[in-house]
Amino acid sequence: MPAFEDKELGADGKRPETPSSTNPMVEHLHKVFVNGSPAKHHSTLEVPGENEHGGTIEVPATRSAIAESEALMHSLSMSPSQVDRRGSRNSFGASLPIPRSKRQSRLSSVATADGRPTRPGMPAIQPTREILSSQLQDMSSITTSAAKNMAFAFDIDGVLVHGDRLIPEGKRVLEILNGDNELGIKIPHIFLTNGSGKPEAARCAQLSKILHSPVSTEQFIQSHTPMSALAEYYETVLVVGGENYQCREVAKEYGFKNIIVPNDIVAAQPTISPLKEFFTAEQKATSNPKDFSKIKINAILVFSDSRDYATDLQIIMDLLQSEDGVLGTMAKDPVSQRIPIYFSQGDLLCPTEHPVPRMSQGTFRIALEAIYKAVTGVELERVVYGKPELATYKYADEVMASWMGTIHNDERLPENIYMIGDNPQSDIIGGNMYGWKTCLVRTGVFQGGENDEKNPASFGVFNNVLEAVQTAVKKELGEDFKFNWSDAMNPVTASHAISAIE
Ligand code: G3P
Ligand code: MG
Repeated sequence: MPAFEDKELGADGKRPETPSSTNPMVEHLHKVFVNGSPAKHHSTLEVPGENEHGGTIEVPATRSAIAESEALMHSLSMSPSQVDRRGSRNSFGASLPIPRSKRQSRLSSVATADGRPTRPGMPAIQPTREILSSQLQDMSSITTSAAKNMAFAFDIDGVLVHGDRLIPEGKRVLEILNGDNELGIKIPHIFLTNGSGKPEAARCAQLSKILHSPVSTEQFIQSHTPMSALAEYYETVLVVGGENYQCREVAKEYGFKNIIVPNDIVAAQPTISPLKEFFTAEQKATSNPKDFSKIKINAILVFSDSRDYATDLQIIMDLLQSEDGVLGTMAKDPVSQRIPIYFSQGDLLCPTEHPVPRMSQGTFRIALEAIYKAVTGVELERVVYGKPELATYKYADEVMASWMGTIHNDERLPENIYMIGDNPQSDIIGGNMYGWKTCLVRTGVFQGGENDEKNPASFGVFNNVLEAVQTAVKKELGEDFKFNWSDAMNPVTASHAISAIE
């Protein structure tokens, strides 16, 4: 059961009523996502719930829509606490749309030359093992049911990998969960990362290679994945962040129609970013310059980490102060005409190959919030997706149930879900609030003592992901559960041992 606090959904647990009328972003979001009545400059956009193809699910935002930078501006050395930040209210009526229907597989329709369906990257089916494991699962039905009634949600960076470098225990964990266990059973698991910056299929292919195990897009959620739901609402968007032009591809896959990236604008107006030092010939050649004085940008979507803070911050500031999102204009009332800005996640730090965690998208956002406040005198309002947002966990439920359908032909949500993460301020607090069991590992952001003081993991702290998974599996399937499959396993001779476990 989700355990978000009532105050975050309104006193009665319902979405809050009318937002502050003096706040334009609030009104905009309220109109678009709560009343279902689009704001004036988005009047052609579809209304939630009226889309015959399924529309979106609205999830109340749990993070304040108001800038978080104020407290930091006079005390930059103070480490912000997610608990304190979450203490702010959600009184704005802002909702985060997430895709309504289950995601379509982008891989499972692939078939072999002889017509048999397969999934790329999956090991070849071994008939002997298939038969033996299914016989074993039939004979040990209680353990088999328990294995299908538990699931893992894995954070990626700091748990399974550091950037492109494998955390060795991550490889072993996926072998076990993909069937290298005494029942040869697939124990359900999804990947829930605040990572970003490239299409899901490309990221899954990269992860499959690093982890030496198949990672399907059907079991994968990155920070901007639920933001595909926004394509129903915004016709023309500025997409910020990511390497090269991959986020343009991401937005295209999500169904956004008119996608602009900052380099398109730089290519059209090089003077817009006086601090930009390099604009390579290749970047220029792949840019799409236009007459931006004739284009209304309906929303700004920060999908991934900025590769050029100076340029991106400048262009975003220009747009936030423009008249209805037209570059080169200055709004008479910049606050009431401000276009909305979304961030795919809020992490301040991210573990990488570097020994000490590096700045992440949250620091870019806080820089923007501080600049906006200093320049305009008012707080920036914005929406943040990703962990620990409720929307991301709700979407995870959808994906988890759908993945159960794929691997066990049984589309439902397992009851015992374990979140394994390294960041107390996103993985753990989000999992705790959502009623999942949480495991904190010591291979990433968390480098503290027994447990995190402000956001303690409910199931425990472990040296690495393998220890966490083995402990959880033993709790659900029995202390004697074996983490190896043997082709020599014979259901008849093994039956005694199996009944002993049950
Ligand atoms: O914070 C940036 C991102 O790379 C973190 O990813 O997998 O730890 O949620 P993850
Ligand atoms: Mg992490």
